[in-house]
Amino acid sequence: MDTVSTYTLAIETSCDDTSVALVNGNGYVLSQMTANQDLVHKDFGGVVPEIAGRQHYESLLPLIEQLLDKNQLSWSSVNGIAVTSRPGLVGSLIVGLVTAKTLALIQNKPFIGVHHIEGHILSAFLNERSPDTQRIWQDPFVALVVSGGHTQLYHVHHIGKYETLGQTQDDAAGEAFDKFAKMLGLGYPGGVLVDRYAQKGNRKAYDFPRSLMKEDHYNFSFSGLKSHAQRKMLEIGSVASVLEDLSASYQEAIVDVLMYKLEKALRTIQLKKFVITGGVSANSRLRERAQELAAKNKWELLIPPLKFCTDNAAMIGLAGSLRLQNGETSPQTLGPVPREELK
Ligand code: KG4
Ligand code: ZN
Repeated sequence: MDTVSTYTLAIETSCDDTSVALVNGNGYVLSQMTANQDLVHKDFGGVVPEIAGRQHYESLLPLIEQLLDKNQLSWSSVNGIAVTSRPGLVGSLIVGLVTAKTLALIQNKPFIGVHHIEGHILSAFLNERSPDTQRIWQDPFVALVVSGGHTQLYHVHHIGKYETLGQTQDDAAGEAFDKFAKMLGLGYPGGVLVDRYAQKGNRKAYDFPRSLMKEDHYNFSFSGLKSHAQRKMLEIGSVASVLEDLSASYQEAIVDVLMYKLEKALRTIQLKKFVITGGVSANSRLRERAQELAAKNKWELLIPPLKFCTDNAAMIGLAGSLRLQNGETSPQTLGPVPREELK
């Protein structure tokens, strides 16, 4: 298979973003198009699965047509189809899967179901500059995946072998941001808004709990933080004048715990390379702290650009492309799996 001039068509519909992309085996993204659903879920304060599935159903095929047209690409330049098959919302996954399987049959292309989190991890190796250059991804590294649905820490032995070091026992980090934003009446999705207020606030103004810092494992817990914030807000009454300080202090509690566990993993396993990805890696304070940690220790840090941090098809394209190159394909009987650990 010529990995440079042919592309894997990738489809991501696991949650609320309909995304399609063309990616080659070196991680080069020729093009990506994403239809964001935030506006339709906004009034509900969170993703409504039924609505998400219907939106994917309406958007996906026209988006694929536009992607191929825009790049003046015919199906002969497509070497296979990659689609997120797990984990995610079943009704959303089904739309992507059925579309991928049907196109694979009609166009006689191999297709591969991809684990969404493997995609997030590999998003660190995507590039938009050169079709022939591959970023070095042979060395082992630690990956922190932080999004609205996930907070996981992995020891990536090599691409394809993932050891879970720890994960959240309750809310995901992004969920902790979103619920806090909802309590403050900031709107949905709230992470980016909390980040914005926090930039002008005092991180030490309020003392929020940092859970599971003393325990000798890499698991996380954010539900205590959320309840503490709820009590604090009731105590304060009108929060309008302290929005910035509250946001800064709350955000610092989340970032402290993430950075503590990440650093502990790097020191214990003695690795010098780490990846942070998922929607929460867009957080400005988390990025700042991660860059400081890397600089202080002369460690290598990879954080993908924003459009590859949040849910996107390019990351699924790279994971799928590597697996297809490896000779792996999925059967037409492949179904969606709402929950499955990455291994
Ligand atoms: O990866 P993603 O697009 O979707 C999944 O959840 O899989 O992540 C979305 C999450 C939301 O919870 C959103 O509030 C959070 O990422 N997020 C942020 C920021 N930007 C997005 N959280 C904190 N700071 C940000 N700047
Ligand atoms: Zn995701």
